[in-house]
Amino acid sequence: MNTQDKEKAVVAGMAPLTAQVIASFAATSDARLRCLLGALVRHLHEFVRAVELSDEEWRRAIEFLTAAGRCSQGGRQELVLLSDVLGLSTLLVRQNHAVPLGATEATVMGPFYLPDVTRFSLGDDIANGAPGTPCTVSGMVRDVAGSPLANATVEVWQADGTGHYDVQLNEGQRNRGVLQADEAGAFNFRTVVAEPYPVPTDGPVGDLLRSTGRSAWRPGHLHVRISAVGYETLTTHVFRHGDPYLESDAVFGVRNSLIAAWQPQSDGTYALHFDFVLSGQRNG
Ligand SMILES: [Fe+2]
Repeated sequence: MNTQDKEKAVVAGMAPLTAQVIASFAATSDARLRCLLGALVRHLHEFVRAVELSDEEWRRAIEFLTAAGRCSQGGRQELVLLSDVLGLSTLLVRQNHAVPLGATEATVMGPFYLPDVTRFSLGDDIANGAPGTPCTVSGMVRDVAGSPLANATVEVWQADGTGHYDVQLNEGQRNRGVLQADEAGAFNFRTVVAEPYPVPTDGPVGDLLRSTGRSAWRPGHLHVRISAVGYETLTTHVFRHGDPYLESDAVFGVRNSLIAAWQPQSDGTYALHFDFVLSGQRNG
């Protein structure tokens, strides 16, 4: 049975209205778009029937989505946050970025990534005066065979000691930058220890979290995005061992393999060492 016959067979077993709506997309020449729209209609209709959605509930849902759209401007993206707290962002990462054994696991990018940020030299301080406990971060970039990835591009961004990202404070670029690993795939830089923070709660997603008794907090973490020619770009976090929010991350991003210890040093600072392994699939 070909794809179109399968679609017709599925439609034949549905309620007439659902089948009628799906059939209205039958002339869509893009087969993937036709598939996505058909499945969307089928699951939406099933949802409404399964929960016996009331007119009032649908009106409130429309108001929620409208409010989410209205407050998504500038650096704020409430619909991404909604995707995050519903676990959709993590589901997509796990589905689309599965890695071979031995490669570093990916996790959500989050809303605070910025492209084209300041380039630092190895050993530089990226904090730019941000408050927090000083720490050094070092690591290696390798492939799954253990070979170093010379000159890999390492982008990092994180919250400061008060749990805020620079883009939330309008005080210029802090705690973010891009570095280039050396010939041995090694990199290091200075920063401050990233502290836990709540996702933004002053919009409709915050209302959702409050009305369902859910925590808005994310465990402290360092965001890392590593790219090298010939390898799949890795977007991930390093989480802090012992963080009180590891079991209740508001966006479900924690993977056990990404938890590491920031080691206390004799001078009151901390040091993190974490190695990253990229899978050998070609970029783009
Ligand atoms: Fe973050």
